Amino acid sequence: MKYGFFDDAKREYVIETPFTPLPWINYLGSNEFFGLISNTGGGYNFYRDAKLRRLTRYRYNNVPRDTGGRMFYITDDSETWSPTFLPAKTPLDAYKCRHGMGYTVFESEMNGLSSELTCFVPVKDNCEINRLILKNTTGEKKEVGIVSALEFCLWNAADDGTNFQRNYNIGEVEVEDQVIYHKTEYRERRNHYAFYSVNQKTAGFDTDLDTFLGKFNNYEIPEVVEEGKCRNTIAHGWSPMACHRLEYTLQPGEETEIIFILGYIEVAKEDKWDGPAAGGVINKKPAKELISRYNTSKAVADELTALAEYWDKLLGKYTAETGDEKLDRMVNIWNQYQCMITFNMSRSASYYESGQGRGMGFRDSCQDLLGFVHIVPERARERILDIAAIQFENGGAWHQYQPLTKRGNADAGMGFNDDPLWLIGCTYAYISETGDYSILDELVPFENKEGSEKPLFDHLRASFNYTLNNLGPHNLPLIGRADWNDCLNLNCFSDEPGESFQTCANIESEAESVFIAGMFVFYGKQFAELCIKRGLNDEADKAIESVKQMNETILKHGWDGEWFLRAYDSNGDKVGSSECNDGKILIEPQGMCVMAGVGIESGQAKKALESAKKYLTFEYGTCLVYPAYKEYHLNLGEISSYPPGYKENGSVFCHNNPWLSIAETMVGNADEAFEIYRRTCPAYIEDISDIHRTEPYVYSQTIAGKEAATPGEAKNSWLTGTAAWTYVNISQYLLGIQPELDGIRLKPCLPGKYNNVKLKRTFRGAVYNITIVRSDDKGIWVDGNKIDSDVIPAASSGSTVNVECRI
Ligand code: BGC
Ligand code: NOJ
Repeated sequence: MKYGFFDDAKREYVIETPFTPLPWINYLGSNEFFGLISNTGGGYNFYRDAKLRRLTRYRYNNVPRDTGGRMFYITDDSETWSPTFLPAKTPLDAYKCRHGMGYTVFESEMNGLSSELTCFVPVKDNCEINRLILKNTTGEKKEVGIVSALEFCLWNAADDGTNFQRNYNIGEVEVEDQVIYHKTEYRERRNHYAFYSVNQKTAGFDTDLDTFLGKFNNYEIPEVVEEGKCRNTIAHGWSPMACHRLEYTLQPGEETEIIFILGYIEVAKEDKWDGPAAGGVINKKPAKELISRYNTSKAVADELTALAEYWDKLLGKYTAETGDEKLDRMVNIWNQYQCMITFNMSRSASYYESGQGRGMGFRDSCQDLLGFVHIVPERARERILDIAAIQFENGGAWHQYQPLTKRGNADAGMGFNDDPLWLIGCTYAYISETGDYSILDELVPFENKEGSEKPLFDHLRASFNYTLNNLGPHNLPLIGRADWNDCLNLNCFSDEPGESFQTCANIESEAESVFIAGMFVFYGKQFAELCIKRGLNDEADKAIESVKQMNETILKHGWDGEWFLRAYDSNGDKVGSSECNDGKILIEPQGMCVMAGVGIESGQAKKALESAKKYLTFEYGTCLVYPAYKEYHLNLGEISSYPPGYKENGSVFCHNNPWLSIAETMVGNADEAFEIYRRTCPAYIEDISDIHRTEPYVYSQTIAGKEAATPGEAKNSWLTGTAAWTYVNISQYLLGIQPELDGIRLKPCLPGKYNNVKLKRTFRGAVYNITIVRSDDKGIWVDGNKIDSDVIPAASSGSTVNVECRI
């Protein structure tokens, strides 16, 4: 069942009912000011850091789940309704929510009053604009009351939800003209405040939540709305909020446009006050300037055009016309959009990530980069240098860093032994995309320590050597705290309820990871290529030799007979073997080892993929493990803590499905490669939105697996490494444009029905128009001339290259 439809021309998903299975959200904001917005107007805003600079309050675990956010109440003929359906919950005559690129529009209608509410964040300013257009479509005049409301967060979201003995005392606001200013803690060490303005004359305001709601009410029918009258309260402590009331008489056919702005202002310390600090009147000048930039209908319309142009530019670097609209909309719109959002948010703020928890993950950030490096390469460059700076001299790394400080986060620990290798992967991807080798000479400190700066290349070398310096009894890499699978905790042995598997003490052991071994082969080859480019031929030879050895080790000690083993635990026992009762086969090494080319010659790769299909794949995707662990295993840790079929314990963990699909392309199996892509791809499973439940336009982290109680049900939408890897898979391996150091390797691997595909790819400033057709006369023609390899050399910036690829 569907709850809406894709409008590709407008790059929107149009939701036709507020009754989606879960809140279906979108993101507003491109640089520093962000908002999450659901299809009923829920969500919250923050400036840069979702924990430390939270502007509006949102209660996770609320009842109902999606309460709060942007609240509008329209009263006419004594009926009150919300253009976003919530919070008033009055059934509407018409409702549509259009989630687009960086904006969301609600189109609704009630009793002959039509409303259009457009919410977006301008590209260059720190504010969210809510433009409400109301029109009387009847032949009678209408008396209309409008109340808009939002609740402020006292900046630090974690504190805001816990430290009530202080918080109920500190809230402060000011009201002047049509603007409500939130200035909690401004009197002391904060140099920032928020405001909520409206560009038309108001009939009243409120800033004290308890008064606004009235005794025992919730947001559905606040007393102020019910009574049609504001109390003009000034909050002193408790819960400061902002509410404006406007009143109109709308003649038949008359329309009114109202602009609400939620803004964030920083003021230099010496300019904080209007008059003496003791007077407590804040300097409103910068707020007034900001408001004046967007306070007219034209300014808002212009800004919406600028936003559309911004996204045109970002999404225009890779476009496809494949003859399959579902595929086109994922490649051209939603997958790239999700990659950009993941880049902006990392794993901080979604409806499943509270914005208070994790910093930027080392491996997460490296992998996210694979999905946006072609869109904003300059940002990718910065990001690589930030990530490399939390690496240790021995090649290991802090597992996370805080975006505001860019320092390693000691709470999240270290010793995740896959981390270092991802740095090679993302740097290689950046250089392949841009041809910018200068990044390798950038001086980057180790562990952020002044004086420890070394060229980035030395960091990559440290990453490579880290694996070699940490081998176990089978000469496979030691797993450390965990590898990509955070929940495979082979050294943890936690028996303490509630203890974090990520940070608990680990035993010293020699547990080994076949997955990291596969990664070493994959990224080790890239390291060797970079050595050659730096003229380090001996080092390249040595690296290739180590890669070869690892390859052999995997085939010998990492092979279970029909698939690749997952690991050896701290006792030296096999994990992911036919000898195990549960957890006989795990997906990660099947994907990663074959992607790396391991076992292709010997036929083991094919066998491993057949086994993955046989044991792990079902209609909704390929599960992480089979059989899922039925009981808790001390020696395996968190993976066995989840009920069977969920999360790492046997869900379809969408992030790793593209590895398997890429692996299928490596053995030339186009049909299964595409099937793996299709099974989890949002646009293709839109029809089962009632089962899938999360947004049908973006990937979720997991889909409940075949052993789950609710197979097919997704969780944790939006912020997942799935976005980047599915994009790598579709753009580079299935459609086949693989950026490499010397140019583009063109190697499509598509099922037969794709027989006339047109791709447009901007690469190092040149535009490649690529046509893929079926023919017996196979090969690649560049500007009419057949080339004798599948690598198209990089063309000069500004040029257009026409390519025909016959497969
Ligand atoms: C989750 C993992 C996640 C880890 C680190 C675990 O509880 O299952 O998916 O990577 O926490 O935050
Ligand atoms: C989510 C984490 O963000 C990622 O780093 C990890 O690889 C996966 N979970 C698998 O555990």
